[in-house]
Order: sequence, then structure tokens, then C-alpha cells
Amino acid sequence: RIAYVNGRYVPHNEAAVSIEDRGYQFGDGIYEVIHIHEGRFVDTDLHLSRLARSLREVSIAPPMNDAALLVVLREVVRRNRVNEGIVYMQITRGVARRDHAFPKGIAPALVVTARHGTAFPRDIKAWAGTAITVPDIRWGRCDIKTVNLLPNCLAKQKAREAGTYEAILIDGSGGVTEGSSTTVWAVDANGVLRTRHLDDHILPGCTRAALSALLADNAIAFEERGLTEAEFRAAREVFLTSATSYVKPIVRVDGVAVGDGAPGPITTRLFGLFARHAD
Ligand code: PDD
Repeated sequence: RIAYVNGRYVPHNEAAVSIEDRGYQFGDGIYEVIHIHEGRFVDTDLHLSRLARSLREVSIAPPMNDAALLVVLREVVRRNRVNEGIVYMQITRGVARRDHAFPKGIAPALVVTARHGTAFPRDIKAWAGTAITVPDIRWGRCDIKTVNLLPNCLAKQKAREAGTYEAILIDGSGGVTEGSSTTVWAVDANGVLRTRHLDDHILPGCTRAALSALLADNAIAFEERGLTEAEFRAAREVFLTSATSYVKPIVRVDGVAVGDGAPGPITTRLFGLFARHAD
């Protein structure tokens, strides 16, 4: 495997960054994950514009322009011969003697890796998963895609220990925010398709944006309105979206069946729509 590190393509197992990298010391960096399907990137523009936004929000200068970055991304994918999988890019503030405040005159550090993933799911029943709920203990700027992911890791670990796919986060006022690494959608007890509105407390998902556009194109109604925990538990259908989950039906939450415990009709339709979008 080959990785890109600060201007060089190097063998993955020899690729390294400094112990003084601020990403390592402070989680002072941002990242993106783009899904590769049949050798192509899915929703590239959405990911590149979110990357630019994340950088802006934390005042890290882009290490290169989008066209140059795309060349690097494609080259890493090509060198690793990834046809189905992901490309990962991480930009940290750079390397400097440890000091919380931003050091002057350092260059941002860029790392790009690619890896093979499972083939795009075609069988919705086989793709369905389960989830637990956990308190959302994250900070106040979850809209920034930072590498500072410890609360997300703690939540995902709880999900794994419970034998489930995802941990769905419930905030201090009893509202569903998102999954530890996914956007949460539900068809509520009245049959209304809903996902939480965007603000500082959730990541604006690129898959969420792509699916929203597909919903509009197909005249499928949905509301950007978050669910309370009670509404969520009464939902007829639940599914997740992300660059690595696509449209993922959730058929049990905290051990309780969602609806009749199988992917519902709206989830099934959107699973199909998204597969056509990615193809
Ligand atoms: N996670 N919410 C959180 C907290 C996320 O980390 C992610 C993505 C999403 C979905 O965003 P998108 O549709 O743009 O992938 C929502 C990526 C896949 C990750 O951390 O690996």
C-alpha cells in the first residue's frame, strides 16, 4: 500500500509524521472520507466544499487548491488499485513545539490514504444493522469534521461491545443528534420522513445532502426536524447515512425492533435511489 505524506508517495507502513504534529498532540486537524465506487469518487464536490469549510472554521490554510488535491487523491487511489473502498485525507495545523496557541509560520500537514472496502451493498436485508443509544457528550462545534474523535470512539466502542453497528447520540435535552459516525433519519409514527436540522451540534453529512437532493428530485417529502428520544423510539423506520454506510437500515434500537424489525418501504426506496446515484 502507498500513502501520500506532505508531498511524497511512500509505502504505507513506512509513512510517518512528526511526534510534534499538532494533530497527534491536540487533535488539531480536520479530515474527510470519500467513498470510491467502481473506481470513481462519490459526491466529490460536497466533500471538498465541506473540507474547505472545516479548514476555514479552524483557521488552517488549505495546503493546496482543490484541483491539486484531486490529483493527489486520484494518484493515491490509482497506486493502491482501489476500485471499491474509501480515500481518507487529513490536514493538521502542522508541526511545532507543543504550545496550545497556534504557532506562527508553520505549514499544514496533509496525509492521504486509500483502502479497499466491501462491495457496494445490493441486498438491503443483508445490509440492515442494529444500534444502541448513548448520551451525546461531544463539544459545541460538531459541525466541524475534526480528527478530535474521542467521544465518537467511546460511543462506537459501546456499540461494538453491545454487538451493534452504531451508537445513536441523545443530547442533554433528549433530542437525537446523530450517530457516532453517521447521520440519523427516521420515518416517525405519523409516517413523516425526518432528519435533524443542521446547526453546530451535528456534522452536515455529504450523504445527507446528496440524499436530500434525490428526495427533492423524486418529489419525496421530508422534514429537517430532529426527533425527541420518545419520537425516535416510536419511529416506524430508522436508517443511517454516511460515506461508508450509504443508506443503512437500522432494524433494532436498544434491543427493540423498529417497526416490524425489517427494512421499511421508505428506507428500501431510498436505498435503491442512493445505489443508482452512486452507480
Ligand atoms: N463519518 N456524522 C458524523 C459524526 C460523521 O463522522 C459522519 C461521517 C457523518 C456522515 O457524513 P458523510 O455522509 O459526509 O459521510 C455524520 C465518516 C464516514 C468517518 O468518520 O469515517
